[in-house]
Amino acid sequence: MPQSDTLTITDNRTGKTYDIPISQGTIKAIDLRQIKTGDDDFGLMTYDPAFMNTASCRSAITFIDGDKGILEYRGYPIEQLAEKSTYLETAYLLLFGELPNESQLNEWTHNITYHTILNEKLKVVLDAFRYNAHPMGKFISTVSALGTLYPESKNIFDNECRQKQIQRLIAKVITIAAFGYRHMVGMPYAYPDNDLSYPANFLNMMYKTTETKYVPDPKLVHALDVLLILHADHEQNCSTSTMRVVGSSHADPYSALAAAAAALYGPLHGGANEEVIRMLTEIGSVQNVPAFIKKVKGGEGVRLMGFGHRVYKNYDPRAKIIKQVAYEVFEVTGKNPLLDIALELERIALEDEYFVKRRLYPNVDFYSGLIYQAMKFPMDMFPVLFAIGRTSGWLAQWQEMLMDPDQKISRPRQVFIGPSRREFVPMEERK
Ligand code: CMC
Repeated sequence: MPQSDTLTITDNRTGKTYDIPISQGTIKAIDLRQIKTGDDDFGLMTYDPAFMNTASCRSAITFIDGDKGILEYRGYPIEQLAEKSTYLETAYLLLFGELPNESQLNEWTHNITYHTILNEKLKVVLDAFRYNAHPMGKFISTVSALGTLYPESKNIFDNECRQKQIQRLIAKVITIAAFGYRHMVGMPYAYPDNDLSYPANFLNMMYKTTETKYVPDPKLVHALDVLLILHADHEQNCSTSTMRVVGSSHADPYSALAAAAAALYGPLHGGANEEVIRMLTEIGSVQNVPAFIKKVKGGEGVRLMGFGHRVYKNYDPRAKIIKQVAYEVFEVTGKNPLLDIALELERIALEDEYFVKRRLYPNVDFYSGLIYQAMKFPMDMFPVLFAIGRTSGWLAQWQEMLMDPDQKISRPRQVFIGPSRREFVPMEERK
């Protein structure tokens, strides 16, 4: 009798049987390699484009149950963190595994606050861009350039050095993002104000003009803080996997984070919030919603942006919280005129068989763009805001990967489908 925690595989090509151990609901793909048809057979592999059913790591950071709509950071439900925590406290939780006590939080907050200044040379990097360059391109390049100022950051296995880079990155991404915006609108750069909280300081660097002290609306500061918490981590998504893959070559964290931000930029990932606003603007009015839904269902390649998720198949718990935050923001800013179109789209889509059958629900991006727009962030800045929040998650995942003895340099296999060996054809013989 085979052991109960094994998988018995019979290879019908050879008639041989194998017992493969099962641990935590997985088998090791490398255990399949022993399944061969003969000595010159490489061994069995799995074919899994887009990693639909492959666990690339064991992680203790974020838990998602997509069917039940559960998201937890280090065991704490996202709803409780959004209500009771702050972004910096949540970042600490993600990185260190436990909520900080009072003195740990004070020290952490101090360290982040006092690393927000950027080396003046980075302004030259920003100045090299055209005024209309996308802020995400500027963000990616400036994060990468930032790393060149700290050559010691390549000492990724030196804990003290690694912690310093983690603090620098979380601190400086708000300054880089805000400077990128000021460059775009032609305003002088506004320097950090260490009296302010992390989200308030970001708003200060974005919007301060001639006032001696910029005082952001506390409701907007709170909304931004909640949005950063909601975006802080989401286990092995496209950009986090990129962070881990680049980090697995032992690149410094600035290079890995720039790569992760580049992955986030795409419209199917962090660029979706921007696409939602473009879509709502294009729809233009509530009356046009049915025609747009028809277009989406017509198979013309048009997607309802802000809908659907690879993991959540009932609802995205972040979307529920964001919808609530949206109403709080609109109390301060006035209602975003696109809200009615969004609500109508959501209403129709949630009843429509096409969306119901495919289990497509509003995701985190469906309402976040409306909030950002009401807070006067230009659309191009939306993915940058996502990147600011996700920075702590990327770094937590990167650190976990470095400490994991199972990890090596990432290197997937392929199934080669090209021509078999052939001889080089001289030019005169080619057709
Ligand atoms: N609108 C219309 N149809 C859709 C949508 C959508 N937003 N999303 C999926 N579908 C359809 C798709 O056409 C396919 O239909 P069929 O079976 O007839 O071919 C089916 O649903 C399954 O789609 P899929 O592309 O296989 O699903 P996926 O898990 O690979 O894609 C997704 C997930 C998020 C990329 C996709 O739902 C999508 O493109 N959504 C719009 C973009 C978006 O809002 N992205 C933000 C994701 S949340 C933030 C983040 O974490 O990045």
